[in-house]
This record gives sequence, C-alpha cells and structure tokens, in this order.
Amino acid sequence: MTKYYIMAAKFGSKIGMIAATVGSAVGLGNIWRFPAETQANGGAAFLLVYIGCVLLLGIPVMLVEFSIGREGGTDAIGNYRRISPKSKWWLLGGMGIAASYMILTFYIVVAGWTLEYFVSALSGDLFTGIADGSSSFEGKMKDYVSSDWKPIIFTAIMIAANVAVLMMGVRKGIEKISNIMMPLLFLILVIFCVVALSLPGASDGLNFFLNPDFSKVNGSVVIDAMGQAFFSLSLGMGVLSTYAAYFPRDTRLGRTAATVSFLDMVVAFMMGLIIFPAVTSFGMQGESLEGATLVFVTLPEVFTRMPGTQLWAILFFMLLLLAALTSTISMSEVAIRFFQDRLKMSRRKAVLIVMLPLLLFGAINSLSSGLLADFKIFGLTIFDLLDTVATNIMLPLGALAMCLYAGWFAPKGLLARQLSNDARSQGVATRAVIFIIRWVSPIAIAAILIAQFK
Ligand code: PFF
Repeated sequence: MTKYYIMAAKFGSKIGMIAATVGSAVGLGNIWRFPAETQANGGAAFLLVYIGCVLLLGIPVMLVEFSIGREGGTDAIGNYRRISPKSKWWLLGGMGIAASYMILTFYIVVAGWTLEYFVSALSGDLFTGIADGSSSFEGKMKDYVSSDWKPIIFTAIMIAANVAVLMMGVRKGIEKISNIMMPLLFLILVIFCVVALSLPGASDGLNFFLNPDFSKVNGSVVIDAMGQAFFSLSLGMGVLSTYAAYFPRDTRLGRTAATVSFLDMVVAFMMGLIIFPAVTSFGMQGESLEGATLVFVTLPEVFTRMPGTQLWAILFFMLLLLAALTSTISMSEVAIRFFQDRLKMSRRKAVLIVMLPLLLFGAINSLSSGLLADFKIFGLTIFDLLDTVATNIMLPLGALAMCLYAGWFAPKGLLARQLSNDARSQGVATRAVIFIIRWVSPIAIAAILIAQFK
C-alpha cells in the first residue's frame, strides 16, 4: 500500500481486527465511568453531548491514529520516525507510550479488584454476613480494595494473565482472546439489559437516562464528555495507531472507525439501560454511582434484592473482567511494540521488560488506596494524580497534537491516501473528514482544554 508497509505482525481476519480494537475501547470506561459521569452530569443531556463528542472529536481522532499507524506500520514512536524522519514528532509517540503506561499502572490495579470481586462472588464470600447485618458492602470494599496485600496479589495475577496472552503474540494471543471475549461480553450485557428493563419501576430510571434536560448542559458537562469520549475510545496515546499497524492491507479505515465507535457507544448505552432502571427500581437512585462505589457497593446491593443473587454477581464481575483484560492488553502492547520494533527485542523479552516493572508500579498504586492513602501530591493520592494527569491532560493534548500533525505537518497526502485506501481521487466524505481533522477537531479540543484550566 505505501512504501512504509513492511511490518510482519498482522491481524488474521477482519472480525479479529474489529474484536481486538473494540476490546481495547470497551473497558471499565464504559462500564463504570460512563454511568458515573452520566449521573454526575445530569443524565440524558450528558448522553447527547457525549454522542456529539464521539462523532465530532472521537471518530476524527481515531481516523488520525489509524492513518498514522497504518502509514508507519510500526510502533508509536517509530511511526513518526518513518513518516517524518528528521523531525521531532516522534516525541508525540513518546508521550503516547508514557500516557498509556501511566494509565496501565492504575488500570491494572482496578482490574485486580475486579478479579478479587469475581473470585469472591464465585466463592460466595461477597455475600456472607450481608443478610444478618454483620457485614456490609462498604466494609467488604474496604477489605478488598484498601487492605495492604490482597489487592496486590490480585493485581499480580492480572499482570500474569496479560503476560500469558501477550507472549502468544498479536494473532494467537490478542486477536484470539478478543474473538472469544468480546462476543461473551455482549451476550452478558444483553442478558443484563433484558433483566433490568423488565424490573418493576424501570421507567423512572429510563426517564433520567433518556429524557434530556438541556438546562443541565454547561461547560463542565462538555469537558467531561470529551474526556470520557477519549478515554472510552482509547484515543490520544498511540494504542490505536499501534493496533492499526496490524490492520490488514485492504481495511477501510472509515468503516472500521465507525464500527468501533458505534460498538463502544452501544456498550456504554446498554450500561445506562442497565444501571439506571436497576437503581430506581430498588429505590436506590440517591446512592452514589461514582466509580468504585457503583460497581462494588450499589450493584451488589441491587443483586441481593434479585432472585439468583450470586449468579448475577458472578456474571457481572465476569463482564468487568473481560472488559478490563482486553483493555490492559492493548495498553501494554504500545510499549511492547516499541521495544520489539525500535530496540529489536524478541517478543518474549519485550513483554517481560514492560510487564515486570508493572508489578512494582501496580503495587505502589494499589497501596495508594490503603497504606499510602495519606501520601498526597497536590492534594491527590498517587493513583488519582496519575489518573487526572493522564486522562484530563495527556489524552486531549495527544489527540490535539495528532490532529495537527496529520492535518498540517505530515507529508502531503497522508490522510487522503490512508482514508481512501490509495484511491486516486477523494470523495466528498473523505474531504469532509479531512476538513474536520484540520480545523474542527483541533479548535474544539484546544478550546475545551483551555476551558479546563479556567
Ligand atoms: N478504553 C478503555 C476503557 O474505556 O476502559 C480504557 C483505555 C484503554 C484507556 C486503552 C486508554 C488506553 F490506552
């Protein structure tokens, strides 16, 4: 396709490619961050602004990442070195590797908690003492999340699970596991949707989620919606450019970006259809839907009021686990591909060099919810600081710089060539997308970024 097209690792099929990319996008961001953001920002109005952000900012930025990845055909830094040698744009790839690894260091801890909850749902420990009041879900959360050693052990197990998949490589590891996990995840979601929507009183929750009150839209709603869109679609940090290097030659980037974004939105939307009816049906709408509390306290409480309590808990934590695993795999792959391609390491060595230090960083992050909870920098725990810096600053900044690079500074024709799969002339749609990438997305992202610091 292009002169840079020389890398060997490729996804083996279109379905596998979509499954892996959707696997990266669909994660804790959809399952717990989205409902929490929607509740905090007033419900349906947030949903609409969010959809607007995905269409106007998310999809264009995704197309930029796909284009850079497929043109360069290598790791996040190497792509810029190949496409624009002699320039400093490779630093942008470096920031991507740093951001994805930073997110990985706390995301893997949350993935560990998820595994801990899954195991305790399986053993029944999650529900012991709840009925007679000798224990509470808040108490259990303290024990599971904030105790010193247990969460570290579960984090280490999640790291080992990632290593096992990543060692098998792109096709036999990442693609294969995504092909199994993604359909399973959708199946579990559909089951939950059907159950939640048939609960008595579900309509009040639906009303909150689907009936917009536009007076609630303000600057901070837009800022949060953009942050959520970038986080949820895994944008701005080289994850999708790394995956795009594995896309088969004839992949249509526009169609792929639309499919991935659509499926990612569907999962978030379905979570709304599940959470809001479920909490209103049990009269718990006053309860916090804030991240950890939502999934570790409010939802288990909901399950206790449903027949088949343990089964629902097992299914739900399995859903979270699948979502978290395919996302951590994609975050790890960014750095692993860098070590493989740039530093010419074997896959095995690259995986170990990236994942072993994660044991230490994961442990530190884990302790920041327990032993180190009082250690604060700028008033934030290490965990929250990493989250804020990476999600609110590095992702939008990365996305903005990528749009500027692809739209203005990359060798001429990069976007046109990639978006049209080397067609000689570009259709209206391609030209419109390029216009958006050059003008609309960067201006909008810059405006929202600046507004954040006001
Ligand atoms: N998109 C993932 C989610 O919604 O949970 C999170 C994520 C994946 C963020 C990969 C960043 C990333 F590089």
